[in-house]
Amino acid sequence: MGKYIIKGGNKLNGEVFISGAKNSVLPILASTVLNSGICILKNVPMLLDTFVAIDILKDLGCEVSYSENLVVVNSKNINNTNVKEELVKKMRSSIIFLGSILSRCKEASISYPGGCNLGKRPIDFHLSAFEKLGIKIEDNEELIKASVENIKENIIELPFASVGATQNIILASIFVNGKVIIKNCAKEPEIIDMVKFLRKMGANIYGEGTHTITIKGVKRLNKVVEYTIMPDRIEAGTFLCMSAITNGNIKVNNIVPKHLNSLIEILNKIGCNIKIYKNSITIQNKNVLKPIDFLETNPYPYFPTDLQPQIMALLATIDGISIIKENIFEARNKHIPELNKLGCNIVEDNNVFIINGVNKLVGKNVVAKDLRGGASLIIAGLVAKGKTIVDGACYINRGYENIERKLNILGADIKYIKD
Ligand code: UD1
Repeated sequence: MGKYIIKGGNKLNGEVFISGAKNSVLPILASTVLNSGICILKNVPMLLDTFVAIDILKDLGCEVSYSENLVVVNSKNINNTNVKEELVKKMRSSIIFLGSILSRCKEASISYPGGCNLGKRPIDFHLSAFEKLGIKIEDNEELIKASVENIKENIIELPFASVGATQNIILASIFVNGKVIIKNCAKEPEIIDMVKFLRKMGANIYGEGTHTITIKGVKRLNKVVEYTIMPDRIEAGTFLCMSAITNGNIKVNNIVPKHLNSLIEILNKIGCNIKIYKNSITIQNKNVLKPIDFLETNPYPYFPTDLQPQIMALLATIDGISIIKENIFEARNKHIPELNKLGCNIVEDNNVFIINGVNKLVGKNVVAKDLRGGASLIIAGLVAKGKTIVDGACYINRGYENIERKLNILGADIKYIKD
């Protein structure tokens, strides 16, 4: 699993360069199946999840090569339409391969992704939308087999603006004879990034970033596509929280600042001094920070669930009571007992978290149970007195490229120990 060892107490200072977005590269890698040709992807974060997606592509028959942050996929030959169970187990979001393999091969199968550390994560929106597109689904709760002769045009209204379901429907509809309209779709920047990539590939899609996306089917796609993955807004937000908790003064580079508006609003409210530039943000604490009355997670453009644990660690060290409500996942709370081991005072009542700020944390052994929760433990460890050992580093490495190197450059004292 690996572990991170942090000696707390150092202020962060300097500049950090943000990697490409994990949640953008995964659907884009899934999309490379579509064009039976070559996709050249730049600014790819080389994360554990990226390697799982690459393994899926190779297992389907694609040729994949990579060096540094460049990945080249040749999807000319696909000789398998099943996504292996062991790979789905490693990365739940493998489910988006279902849409792209179906589009390309008219059939696809994948083992059931099941729940995860964030609680039940059903895929009923994906499957019922697929059925509306004329896709036949055989689902025995272990394996999902999907097949289709021709995707049927339809209007699909999602019960909730699900990111994965929006992506899967778009991917399944690329070659529809007519058009597919998705209402109440997700508006996350990562959806926009995937659509921009698909458009470069020759797909005809519009409305991304709004409540309604339309896909007009095309007959064929371009054989060569080159694309640069957008910056990771969640990584950027994590570094902003890291700087704020240490009373630091950092510049976060290579980002799209407007993607972080909901976090910036909160950081401004609690008293951080933020300056926004074209592709960067600086953060400095001028005053003593204040708690926040109420903050809730919601789909973009509202406060992201993927930053809930990180902002919680910060608020846990600010004198006074802050309240957070988690609205997206039923069990995004595994970090709370671990933060409390370090001296935080957080209680939970039905996905409402009451944070009573403390002025001292003390290093202990804690365990990351999921990616963003793990990041919150590193954040707390940066100010905890003495040594914090965060086990379960593999979760953190799923979503943060070179976190140890980036933090040490900023003046932190953190070591990664591989088991
Ligand atoms: C994506 C992100 C994840 C982020 C989440 C919410 C990727 C790889 N992952 O996950 O980091 O935390 O968006 O912003 O991009 N739901 C259903 N039925 C479905 C689909 C979803 O009930 O068929 C529910 C989920 O259980 C959850 C909510 O809808 O409660 C949102 O999920 P969704 O937006 O689909 O998240 P993911 O795409 O899995």
